[in-house]
Amino acid sequence: MTAKIDAILVIDFGGQYAHLIGRRVREFSVYSEVLPDDVTASEISGLKKRYNVKGVILSGGPSSVYREETSERIKGIFRLGLPILGICYGHQLIAYIAGGRVKSAAKREYGVTDAIIDKPVGILKGLDKREKVWMSHGDTVYGLPRGYVVLARTENCPVAAFMHATKPVYGLQWHPEVFHTEKGSEMLRNFVFNICGCRANWKIGDFIKKSIVEVKRETGGKKCIMALSGGVDSSAAAVLAARAVGKKLTAVFVDHGFMREGEPEFVGKTFEKFGFNFVSVDARERFMKRLKGVTEPEQKRKIIGEEFIKVFEEAARKAGADYLVQGTIYPDRIESGFRKKSDRIKTHHNVAGIPTKIEFKGIVEPLKDLYKDEVRKVAEKLQLPKGIIWRQPFPGPGLAVRVTGEITPEKVAVIKKSDRIVREEVEAAGLGGSLWQYFAVIVDTKSTGVKGDARAYGYTVVVRAVESREAMTANFARLPYETLEKISTRITNENPQVTRVVYDITHKPPATIEWE
Ligand code: XMP
Repeated sequence: MTAKIDAILVIDFGGQYAHLIGRRVREFSVYSEVLPDDVTASEISGLKKRYNVKGVILSGGPSSVYREETSERIKGIFRLGLPILGICYGHQLIAYIAGGRVKSAAKREYGVTDAIIDKPVGILKGLDKREKVWMSHGDTVYGLPRGYVVLARTENCPVAAFMHATKPVYGLQWHPEVFHTEKGSEMLRNFVFNICGCRANWKIGDFIKKSIVEVKRETGGKKCIMALSGGVDSSAAAVLAARAVGKKLTAVFVDHGFMREGEPEFVGKTFEKFGFNFVSVDARERFMKRLKGVTEPEQKRKIIGEEFIKVFEEAARKAGADYLVQGTIYPDRIESGFRKKSDRIKTHHNVAGIPTKIEFKGIVEPLKDLYKDEVRKVAEKLQLPKGIIWRQPFPGPGLAVRVTGEITPEKVAVIKKSDRIVREEVEAAGLGGSLWQYFAVIVDTKSTGVKGDARAYGYTVVVRAVESREAMTANFARLPYETLEKISTRITNENPQVTRVVYDITHKPPATIEWE
């Protein structure tokens, strides 16, 4: 048995920063889990089987309506006796439930404000009389019931921070999790370590050891199978699972023909030394046959998705595996909802992995509690090559979403070469690290050009390079003209069929990052 880790639970009331609170806590090497706002006290008690639950943070949120139902549920959570911190909406909610006065502020506060710290105790221990804090709220707490103490105020907010006189219950109207709150980290530290008494026992090395034990226990020495794409999530999951079950794991790499140039060889070579069975299925012809004559983008995606599952199922049946390993990570799990996790296989609720028809005995998701940067740390510790850990995101259907109109062998050949050229030139200019993605697209519109002395009628290739944090929004990158010129010259020189290269200068929104 491995010892349980300490955990702080964050209840997400729909604020844009709930995940950021979770991330900040994890940066202190303390585990945190973000839960939906309809979580109940008994569900929280259930989590005590997995973790030492040490405290609860109520996040901000857009709501200013205090529903009876929410109040009752939160009262139930209070009765668990855990330390509680309310942030923004959470701060107002605690005050409201306790019988305080909460109403619309005379003036909405948004941005950095000076907070006057009247009592530097508890969550505000060690702070100065005046601190810069970041506010974003319409409602404000105007009065607290007996038993509560005001700790700080701002010009427009008479109760900007409070505590209960005897219980570990705190409220902050400002956001300690955003970096504009200069001492936000100290405030959260006070809560996590001094008030909740957490130990910093969420470490990547320990996580790996614990996961290996868990995967061994979950699979009981039986055979496992997984789809390995070569992306960082599935690669880290494969290597971690292999540490637990070795050759009992078969990882299937489906070559649908729309991989980057040299990718199947690179992936095959990379995983040779990690001690599991690596099976590469060359399904290029199958995919191309099914896509013949298809031009509608969603239809293309659907066909590729279906064919992928078929190829994987065939390989899985051949391997005769009992367990399915998946590279699901924490944000994937949040999307599908934490309660749905247990019945994924039957209901095909799976957002990150493969909804297969095969009845497996179980599903194993060794990375299910990790954020992307934590997965990268795990991958580093497992000695995966940098080329895998830091690669740009690559869509499941591969280069197929970068070919508009019918997918033909000729267009695929052009796009593979052009994609390599974009990568080589962007990386040679030292720009790769600052970009989210950089690639080429081949469009269905042909245009006239001059090649040698003759007129030519050829393909148009689009170059796309974007900056982004999470792909929800993106800006086109201002690549230097010299780099664009090199890319354009090489693409037209090395692809006789291409007469024109254009640069995509559209942000997301309104465009998406990929073209299809
Ligand atoms: P869009 O084009 O929607 O893309 O702005 C956002 C991000 O998602 C990637 N992407 C995919 N990733 N399977 C994936 O695993 C897909 O089908 C897929 N489609 C788009 C895209 O590369 C970008 O990073």
